[in-house]
Amino acid sequence: MKLIRHLMVAIALCVAGSSAQAGEVEVLHWWTSGGEAKAAAALKQMMEDQGHTWKDFAVAGGGGEAAMTVLKTRAVSGNPPAAAQIKGLDIQEWAKLGFLTSLDDVADKANWDSMLPPVVSKVMKYEGHYVAVPINVHRVNWLWVNPAVFKKAGAEVPTTLDEFFAAADKLKAAGVVPLAHGGQAWQDATLFEAVALAVLGPKDYTAAFVEHDMDVLSGPKMVEALTKFHRMRDYIDPNSVGRDWNVATKMVINGDAAMQIMGDWAKGEFTAADKVAGKDYLCVPAPGTQGTFTFNIDSLAMFKLNDEENEKAQKDLARTILEPEFQTLFNTAKGSIPVRTDMDMSNFDACAQKSMEAFKSTADTGGLVPSFAHGLATTSAVQGQIFDVITNFFNQKDADPKATAKSLASAVQSAL
Ligand code: BGC
Repeated sequence: MKLIRHLMVAIALCVAGSSAQAGEVEVLHWWTSGGEAKAAAALKQMMEDQGHTWKDFAVAGGGGEAAMTVLKTRAVSGNPPAAAQIKGLDIQEWAKLGFLTSLDDVADKANWDSMLPPVVSKVMKYEGHYVAVPINVHRVNWLWVNPAVFKKAGAEVPTTLDEFFAAADKLKAAGVVPLAHGGQAWQDATLFEAVALAVLGPKDYTAAFVEHDMDVLSGPKMVEALTKFHRMRDYIDPNSVGRDWNVATKMVINGDAAMQIMGDWAKGEFTAADKVAGKDYLCVPAPGTQGTFTFNIDSLAMFKLNDEENEKAQKDLARTILEPEFQTLFNTAKGSIPVRTDMDMSNFDACAQKSMEAFKSTADTGGLVPSFAHGLATTSAVQGQIFDVITNFFNQKDADPKATAKSLASAVQSAL
C-alpha cells in the first residue's frame, strides 16, 4: 500500500515536472536600466513560477529603436520571438503583415474589454481582435527635480516655461547643470514633445502630431515651441552627447543636475536607488503642461508560433500581465501606473498616485494626449521623420525655427 502511494506521488511529481518544462516564452524588450531590469525580472519570475522557461531577448537602447531593428531581422527570417515590446500604431502594422496571433480567448475569459480603458484597448486590437497585451501606462510629461539642489541655489520649482528659464538661470549661476539630458534623437524628441505641449496646448498638439494638420505643424505656435525648445540647450552640459537617459537621471539623483524632463521610467531609477518621492526627489508636470497627460503604453504583441507548449506559455504570459499581482509588482519597479484603472493604488508612491488621478481626470477634460516620441501618436514612419528634423534642429547652434517648422510639416507630409 505504502509502495503504491510512493509510486503515485512519484508519478504525480513526474507529470508536474514535465509540465514544469511546459513551454518557453522568448520576450524581446529593451528594459535594461536598473529600474527596468527589476520590472522585467518580476515577469520572468512569475512565468517561471508557472513552470515555463523565460528566454530573455533584451536589446539595450532607450526608446527601443535598436530593439525594433533586431526584431525586424528576426521576423523576416521566419523566427520571431513569442512576444515583443511593440507599441501603438506599430501593433497594427505587424498585425496587418500577418505576424500576430489572436489573444481573444484569454481576453474574453478575463474580460479585458471591461477592465481596460478604451483609449488602451483600441491600440491593442487589430480588426476587433486582441493581438497585444498592455502592461502599463507611462506618463511622459514629467519634470524630475532634486529639491536639495534647488534649495541651495535659491530657485523655485517651475510650473511654467518662463519659470523654468528663470529657475535654470539661477541654477546655472550657482554652478549646477540645470537640465540633465542625453543627446539621442528620442530624448531630444521627448523634451520637444513636452515643450510643444506646453506651447500648443492639447488641442493643437493633437492637430499637429496625431492629425498632422500642416497649418499647425508649420504655424506660429510651432515656431514658438521650437524657439523655446532650442533655448533649453543653454541649460544642458556639454557632455550630453550620446548620453543614455538613465545616466542623465543619475545626475539628478546624485545632485549633479537639478532637473530632467523624462517619462516616469525615470522614477524606476529613483526607486532602484532607494530614493523617496516627495522627499529626495519631486515629480511635477513638465513646465506649462498642468492638466494634461502625455501617455505612453508599454505592450507585448504576441507572434504566431507553431509549438503547442510554447503557445500555452504565451497565453499564460498574456493572462499574467493583466493580473493585479503582476500589475503592482511590475509597475512599482518600472515607475509606471497599472493599465487597469480598478487597481488599489495604496502600495504605490505619491507620484504614481498623482499619475493615476491625472490619467483618469484628463480622459474627461481632453488633456489626455498620446506621445509621439514613444510611438503612440503616429506611425513609425512619421515618427522617424519628426525625430530627424527635431534632432538636427536641436544640434545646430544657429538653427532657424521658422524654416524648421516648415521642414517639420513637409517631413511629416512625406511619410503619410
Ligand atoms: C518605453 C519604456 C522604456 C523607455 C526607456 C519607452 O519608449 O515605453 O518602457 O522604459 O522607453 O527605454
